[in-house]
Amino acid sequence: MQLRQWLRLGAVAVVVLSATAQAQDDATEKAIEKYRQMLREDPWSNPGLLDADRGEDLWNAARGPKKTSLAQCDLGKGPGVVDGAFAELPRYFADAGKVMDLETRLLWCMDKLQGFNRAELVRMPHPGGGQPVKELGAIATYVANKSSGMKFAPKLDHPQEKEMVALGEALFMRRSGPFDFACATCHAESGRRIRLQGLPFLSNPEAARKVVGEWPAYRVSTTHVMTMQHRLYDCYWQMRMPELELGSDASVALVAYLVSTAAGGEISAPGLKR
Ligand code: HEC
Repeated sequence: MQLRQWLRLGAVAVVVLSATAQAQDDATEKAIEKYRQMLREDPWSNPGLLDADRGEDLWNAARGPKKTSLAQCDLGKGPGVVDGAFAELPRYFADAGKVMDLETRLLWCMDKLQGFNRAELVRMPHPGGGQPVKELGAIATYVANKSSGMKFAPKLDHPQEKEMVALGEALFMRRSGPFDFACATCHAESGRRIRLQGLPFLSNPEAARKVVGEWPAYRVSTTHVMTMQHRLYDCYWQMRMPELELGSDASVALVAYLVSTAAGGEISAPGLKR
């Protein structure tokens, strides 16, 4: 064969190989989607609902040094009102003088109303693999589930709320840390993936509306409910950034930005993740 013919054959082989790789990617994607579909078909198969129940019991139980329940905890719609509260969070709370997402507000109520030690609650707030979600996370699952079927409708018009969304957007876009990653490095394009995990395009409202309302979510691979604060903690860890503290302004800002992008999207918490 002539050199030119060899080259042509080589070029054809490259095209065939990349087409095969693409077909394999598509097949994998389809198989994963089928698995998710099977999990979704029977909504009662979601073990996260057990944590929502545990969270309801915890909400109503007299607990902590002050032996009180969370009946006086105001999630923004009045003391003790849980229905629909999650759909309007994060929001500014005048009593705290701060914008808070659900978990930060629960932390505040557990500290102020029940007398729990805040430092203790934020020391190791997230479960390890195989461990059940911690109490605060179970309560968050209960509260979020009470907005399931509703649409995210955060007001985010108070000056401090606007400031938080802007800070969240800046944190999302800004590259930093030893890897020089931003959230946007992994989440600002469609069709991105790390191994088998799809990376949602979170700065895109259409894509954000599909996933943000699924948190807290039961994560099959670690067999527990993972809250949004936990999800962000893990993504910051992947970026090798300093630990994201539960209830910190940075964490609330990121949640505020994600929810503002996902506004109008349906809440279906607890969702089900790989
Ligand atoms: C190195 C890439 C990377 C960076 C940077 C990153 N993430 Fe992620 N993120 C992931 C991966 C991987 C997953 C999916 C994990 C899984 O499937 O278990 C994910 C999942 C998520 C999810 C859940 C998406 C869903 O499917 O419901 C959210 C929300 C999220 N990240 C937010 C952020 C935010 C906010 C930042 C910046 C603080 C960030 N991520 C930075 C890799 C990254």
